[in-house]
Amino acid sequence: MASAQQLIGLVKSHAEGDVDRFFDLAMQISSAEEQKGHIRLAEQLRQWAHAGQRPPTAATPKLTPIIAPRGDLAQFLAATYPIERLNSVILPAPIEEELRHVIVETRMREKLEEKGLKPRRRLLLSGPPGTGKTLTAHGLAGELQFPLFSVMLHGLITKFMGETAQKLKLLFDAVKSTRGVYLFDEIDALAAARGEGNDVGEARRVLNSFLQFLDEDTGPSIVIATTNLPEILDRAVLRRFDLVLSYELPDAGSIQKALERRLIGFSITSLSWKDVTDCAVGLSTADIVAAAEDAGRRAVLEDRNNITTIDLLNSLGRRRSLQGLGRGVHATGSTAFSANGTRQAVSVSGKGRGRKAAK
Ligand SMILES: Nc1ncnc2c1ncn2[C@@H]1O[C@H](COP(=O)(O)OP(=O)(O)O)[C@@H](O)[C@H]1O
Ligand SMILES: [Mg+2]
Repeated sequence: MASAQQLIGLVKSHAEGDVDRFFDLAMQISSAEEQKGHIRLAEQLRQWAHAGQRPPTAATPKLTPIIAPRGDLAQFLAATYPIERLNSVILPAPIEEELRHVIVETRMREKLEEKGLKPRRRLLLSGPPGTGKTLTAHGLAGELQFPLFSVMLHGLITKFMGETAQKLKLLFDAVKSTRGVYLFDEIDALAAARGEGNDVGEARRVLNSFLQFLDEDTGPSIVIATTNLPEILDRAVLRRFDLVLSYELPDAGSIQKALERRLIGFSITSLSWKDVTDCAVGLSTADIVAAAEDAGRRAVLEDRNNITTIDLLNSLGRRRSLQGLGRGVHATGSTAFSANGTRQAVSVSGKGRGRKAAK
């Protein structure tokens, strides 16, 4: 049963029209009941809590004007309510477990704070392009029913170099005052700017003030940064994050899962999975999804409902050549060119997946 404090809080937040707090408390009570094994009750509570929130459906992708960024902020902050969930992302178990725990920590913030603890809220997701980092940010926001605020770094940095620190302050004021998931996607742009000649001093100041704001922020929002080039982030940057997760190219199991999900509605019973996954090794999940769509389109136009091994090998082969990977690259630790043309080591064995990078 919910504690007296929780029940009072629930009624009070309802009376005060505090939708966020009402939702948090309902989710806390639901989690507590789930832990006690009252699964059905927990699910019912969750459903009613969600019903009271703004519906996260495709019909309402835009925010109400109250939450949508205004004024200067609107130039580099875009807001949405993602409909994705965490299980939209195919992830190695250790990464998924950490992310699920972050969700619970966020929901149980008050319980943690009673003991002087804080939920982890500054996440860095690093790894090759197309492995689900951006999708994870959407999934977390969708799962928590938080708005997703995507920071448009290019608008923030290149045009207004001199004013960037000021704009960052504006941004972190929003992080403090408007609860949401704030996504700094591909912060390579920030860190790489350090080496770009012209005005290195200014770029360093920008990165440093980003890190300082990150340090100082104690608000209720989750800040997610992603990078395709983890090697350019030094320890000083990594240290600022509560959780650093390394995304890797998918192993055979994840490749199969991604194909099966994308090909729902087609008959794929005759597939030789070993041949297919061998051929897909070294490609990103985004490429694999695109290859599945390619095979699907061709089957539909040929009036077929079944997808064969050959179909997928052909579509994957096309994808490989688009990526300049050539066919049949199977070696572990081979070097390939990523979508953005940079050289990078490709770990294709699936070993070591989900390891957390050193803090
Ligand atoms: N781990 C994954 N699980 C499911 N789909 C994925 C995954 N990684 C990539 N995708 C597919 O590829 C698309 C692009 O992925 P994205 O999250 O933008 O990659 P990243 O941000 O790592 O470059 C996604 O919208 C999704 O369709
Ligand atoms: Mg991305």
